[in-house]
Amino acid sequence: MEQYIIKGGKPLIGEVTISGYKNAALGIIAAAVMTDETVTIENVPDVRDIRVLLQAIGDIGAKVEYVNGDTVKICGGLIQTVDVDFDYVRKIRASYYLVGALLGKYKSSKVALPGGCNIGSRPIDQHIKGFEALGAAVKIEHGLICAEAEELKGAHIYFDCSSVGATINTMLSACLADGLTILENAAKEPHIVDIANFLNSMGANIKGAGTDVIRVKGVPKLHGTEYSIIPDQIEAGTFMFAAAASKGDILIKNVIPKHLEAFTAKLIEIGADVEEFDDAIRVRAEGKLGNTHVKTLIYPGFLTDMQPQMTTLLAVSKGTSVVTESIFENRFKYVDELSRMGASIKVESNTAIIDGVDKLTGAVVSAPDLRGGAALVIAGLMAEGFTIVENVEYIERGYEKFEYKMQQLGADMVKFDSEDTKAIKKFKLKVG
Ligand code: UD1
Repeated sequence: MEQYIIKGGKPLIGEVTISGYKNAALGIIAAAVMTDETVTIENVPDVRDIRVLLQAIGDIGAKVEYVNGDTVKICGGLIQTVDVDFDYVRKIRASYYLVGALLGKYKSSKVALPGGCNIGSRPIDQHIKGFEALGAAVKIEHGLICAEAEELKGAHIYFDCSSVGATINTMLSACLADGLTILENAAKEPHIVDIANFLNSMGANIKGAGTDVIRVKGVPKLHGTEYSIIPDQIEAGTFMFAAAASKGDILIKNVIPKHLEAFTAKLIEIGADVEEFDDAIRVRAEGKLGNTHVKTLIYPGFLTDMQPQMTTLLAVSKGTSVVTESIFENRFKYVDELSRMGASIKVESNTAIIDGVDKLTGAVVSAPDLRGGAALVIAGLMAEGFTIVENVEYIERGYEKFEYKMQQLGADMVKFDSEDTKAIKKFKLKVG
């Protein structure tokens, strides 16, 4: 098992470049198989969830070719089956975008039910509602979502809740349905806009993405394109919070500052310095930061995926802070680990009440999920002494070269196999 070892207490200083947005890339890769022509996608992050999805489309017959580190060419012209039932696919949540993509193109799909981070019950009723409204019959059988339609017809769909996944999935199928689909109460997150832009560049006709009403006029087929994915707002946010937590000074490059506004506002409110440039953002902090109240909301509210990083920063800020999680019910699992490092946090239902402590101390902790794991790394960077973060495979689902990027900023952080006690000892001796 691999683990990170971090010696805390060093400010992070320097520049870091943000990779392409994993959550956008997942939808875009699924959408890419909807044409028989070749699609070239740039700025694809090299993270585990993406590798799994690329393998899945490769295993059903799509041609996948890495042109260089972050550019991938995909050709869906040779797909032989709509049956995506591989063990490894169950491990990622976004495999379900293949339901929408294959249903749109072939009017049939069978995809293993999604796994992903255990941060709540994560139902898919709104996805099913979308497919059924377009005319598909949907069944859950033997752990698969099976969707089938003679033809797909545009429909007026009102989602019961704002769901990123259901909006994307229904939008995918609707692109190749007959007539106009109107999605109401659609999610507005930046990657919905990115995926809609990508589909439009393939010849789709989508208007309104980024608002809560999306109109999709079906087209008979899609064509090849070249497209570059937007930067990852969550990776950028994580480095912003790591800068503030370590009392550092980081220039974070390749970002869209507008997507980071909710994080910027909170950082400024608690006393950090944030400077925005066209496609970069600089975060600096000195001394103790202040307290605040945060509630996770749908975009443009404070993103649930940044809640663990925020709570961790507040764990060593002045006074009492309150963080309320309103999107997923099980997203405070990392708090027990933070408590082992000396944090004083009480979780009551969906709210964490944080009493800022003077300092955290290094401990052996275990990443419970992707973003909770990233938060524990931030805790390790702040803590006195050594922190070991176990289960780094969760973190690697969504952060490209995480320890390398941290090292470039001066962090004493390395990844080791937990069996490799010699290397661990050597690292400890080296950094003191
Ligand atoms: C996506 C993101 C995830 C982020 C989340 C919220 C991707 C690959 N993942 O997840 O990182 O944390 O948005 O910003 O983009 N819901 C239902 N029924 C459904 C679908 C969702 O009740 O059919 C509920 C969920 O339980 C949750 C809320 O809607 O409470 C939002 O979920 P959703 O936006 O669908 O999240 P994901 O698409 O899974």
